[in-house]
Amino acid sequence: MIKVGIIGTGVMGAGHARFIKEHVPDATVVGLSDIDTKKIAELSAELGTVLFSTTNPEELMNDSRVDAVIIASPDPLHVPHLRLAIASGKQILCEKPIATTLEDARMISAEIRTYQERVGKKMINFGFMRRFDPCYQEVRRLIATGDFGPPTFFRTVTRNVASTGATTTGLFTNIAIHDFDIYRWLFKDEWESIQSFYPRRSSLSPDGLADPLIIIGRLKSGVTMVGDVVAFNNYGFDCRVEVICEKGSIQIGTHGDVITQVNGVGGATKGGKMANNWMVRFEPSYIEELKAWIQEVKTGIVNPDLATVEDALIANEVCAIGISSIKPQK
Ligand SMILES: NC(=O)c1ccc[n+]([C@@H]2O[C@H](COP(=O)([O-])OP(=O)(O)OC[C@H]3O[C@@H](n4cnc5c(N)ncnc54)[C@H](O)[C@@H]3O)[C@@H](O)[C@H]2O)c1
Repeated sequence: MIKVGIIGTGVMGAGHARFIKEHVPDATVVGLSDIDTKKIAELSAELGTVLFSTTNPEELMNDSRVDAVIIASPDPLHVPHLRLAIASGKQILCEKPIATTLEDARMISAEIRTYQERVGKKMINFGFMRRFDPCYQEVRRLIATGDFGPPTFFRTVTRNVASTGATTTGLFTNIAIHDFDIYRWLFKDEWESIQSFYPRRSSLSPDGLADPLIIIGRLKSGVTMVGDVVAFNNYGFDCRVEVICEKGSIQIGTHGDVITQVNGVGGATKGGKMANNWMVRFEPSYIEELKAWIQEVKTGIVNPDLATVEDALIANEVCAIGISSIKPQK
């Protein structure tokens, strides 16, 4: 049984804790850390497995009752919490992004690489969970059949109901970063260029936030992304994909259904009630990611789909190309 500690008990930290309790039999959550003691108390009561809690992440990281730690604190705290992780010698799953600036991402990834070389194994994984999503896996499988012909471009949509505290650069490092990672994984390719475009600003967005964001990106193979990120959409969490191939199209619908248009037959995406955030749509990915991580912790056998420090750094490098193309807003 792997004993897990969690730093940050907000939406993601609490979600990981619930998924472990309900779906990962080889792990149990024994420790929680948050500066919000009410959140800790409520989650502890709900889980019924927590042995201790603390407002000090360093204490949790170094507690001998914990084997492995999930870092689910806010983005700007990932660098200091990753430094605690290096000092602790524990196995870590850190939520994306590795850092909020490219400079910090390069610095902390160099520290992690040096540390992992010294101990001789991978110690830190990153939460790019779309790699474990059955829909993206199905799209990859369908492309590999060859029935659709080679992919030419794809459309991708990530629209949040609300992104409290979002910043213009954060639309890249917090949201679009998932796209930058998953399409490297899906197409086994690397990004060549990223360009941002800004339509008329949404009146639902706070002053100073350049939202919506449209991104045109090109992979080295020439396969091109036409994507959008909306931080405040008011209608429901909406994450969709369409991969346009030479002989057909493959879509992932809002509700996580995979639909094809090929050989004169077209499917239709599911409708229905939309969720307020990403937890419902991506529940299977979080569960499979946690199972994969716990297996890796237990066996030491590396799972190639778990995002490494190299993957996390590349995602931030790609964000930086997009950030450099940000233009002033009207
Ligand atoms: N992989 C994904 O799909 C996904 C989705 C959403 C968010 N995230 C990432 O997960 C992380 C957490 O996001 P969230 O949506 O749960 O945010 P959240 O605001 O709901 O939760 C963050 C928690 O961290 C706590 N916290 C703040 N300072 C702390 C400190 N010094 N020590 C310990 N805890 C502290 C806050 O009190 C809060 O409970 C972010 O990095 C975010 O980018 C990942």
